[in-house]
Order: sequence, then C-alpha cells, then structure tokens
Amino acid sequence: MSDAIPYIPDHVAIIMDGNGRWASQRGLPRFEGHRRGVDALRRTITAAEELGIRFLTVYSFSSENWRRPVAEIAELMGLLRRFIRNDLADLHARNVRIRVIGVDDGLSADIVALLDEAEKLTSSNTGLTFVVAFNYGSRREIADAVRSLAADVATGRLQPSAITEDMIAGRLSTSGIPDPDLIIRTSGEQRLSNFLLWQASYSELVFSPVLWPDFGRDALLEAIDAYRVRDRRFGGLSAAIGRSR
Ligand code: FPP
Repeated sequence: MSDAIPYIPDHVAIIMDGNGRWASQRGLPRFEGHRRGVDALRRTITAAEELGIRFLTVYSFSSENWRRPVAEIAELMGLLRRFIRNDLADLHARNVRIRVIGVDDGLSADIVALLDEAEKLTSSNTGLTFVVAFNYGSRREIADAVRSLAADVATGRLQPSAITEDMIAGRLSTSGIPDPDLIIRTSGEQRLSNFLLWQASYSELVFSPVLWPDFGRDALLEAIDAYRVRDRRFGGLSAAIGRSR
C-alpha cells in the first residue's frame, strides 16, 4: 500500500539514537529507553511499508557498543532476542524480507541462530527489505572486503588493476542492496559513527531532534520532507540546471 507521496526515497537508513537521554529525562533506567526504542522501531517499519519505502536499514548494535556496561549489552541482546521471537512471524506474514549486516564475532550462538533463521525464513519475500545492522561497523566491513579481494590477488585469480568500485561494493555485507538515499540520525547528534561509510557517499543526511523512542510516522515524514527539497547532484549539475542546458 502506498500513500502516493512523491519523492519517497527508495532506501532509508536510520541511526536510532537518544534512548538513554529519553529515559533519563523521565527518571527511568536506560533500559526503559531501549525497550521503548523497540516500539519506535515497530512503528517505523509499519510507516515505511505504508509509504512504499523499499529498503529500511537500522543501526541496532554497533561494533563500538561492546564498550557499554555488560548489563546494558545483555539488555540490548535480550531485546533483539525478544524482537525476533515476537515479531518474526508477523513480519514474514507481511512479506517483509529481513537482511542482517554485521559480524558474528562475540555474539552468542543463539543470537546468531535467530538472525540466520530470520534471514532464511524471509529470503523470498518481496515487500519491504528490513536490514538490521547488528554488531556492525563500517571500517571492519570495508577491511573484510579488502582482505577478500587481496586473497584473490594472492592466488592469481584477480589482477590489482582489475579491481573496481563495483567489485568492492559486491564484497560488502550490503551487496545487492542499493545505497541509502536518506540517512536519518535521531536525537540531534550529527555524525555517522562508523555506519555505512562506503554506501553513504551520496546519501542525503537528515538530523532529527526527536529522541528515538518518540520516533514514528510523523518524524519519518518530517525527515522525508527535508530530503525532498534537497538537490541531489551526485557530483554533477543540479537536475534543474541540467534540464535548462
Ligand atoms: C542509541 O541510544 C541506541 C542504541 C545503542 C541501541 C538501539 C537499539 C534499539 C532502538 C532497540 C533495539 C532493537 C532491536 C531490534 C535490537 P543511546 O543509548 O546511545 O542513547 P543516548 O545517546 O541518549 O545515551
């Protein structure tokens, strides 16, 4: 179902930030902010489906999040477990395809199994592609891609001079997923924090003041409104100038 709003981005990626501040503003434990963050995620997935967004990527756990207190890490892992156990069947019934980007290192075996199950069960679905960045870091992703190309060079399967941008993109965990048109970071922070650094080359960045637990359809539409008036030139001329010449 599409609301027929023009210029809906094909791929929206979100850095979900501000859970801790949301909780502390209310005198609640940080965990409560993360828990309410899962509700915001559910609202955002539904809004993305309704708006006709084809790819939605969310930064759920970064490779740097291991620096948090052990108890908070355990809470975030527990939320992921519960999210997949509770929501997977419904997302599958809604024709949502789940992709996971990130590495298995450090994750417990049951989390790896749940993420694999979510990907396998939904792999043939044709609706929204929901990309979960979990234990993800962009520099590691790029290093892994470079290592894999270097291995091909070492065995003589690949000449260094033959390496192309497409070849690098094809070895990233996002292979087959178009680059994000719009990257939203919530909570007013303005940085990418090791998220999709290669893929963000021409993404429009929108920094929303909304704390993630308050995010939903309205805040998503506001970010899309900001995106719609941007002039995406991809290093070339503006579309308007291009047309007039
Ligand atoms: C940043 O807020 C948010 C995170 C580190 C985790 C994001 C996780 C969720 C929204 C819920 C988990 C969902 C799934 C499905 C795993 P912060 O804690 O850095 O907030 P702060 O900057 O205000 O402290």
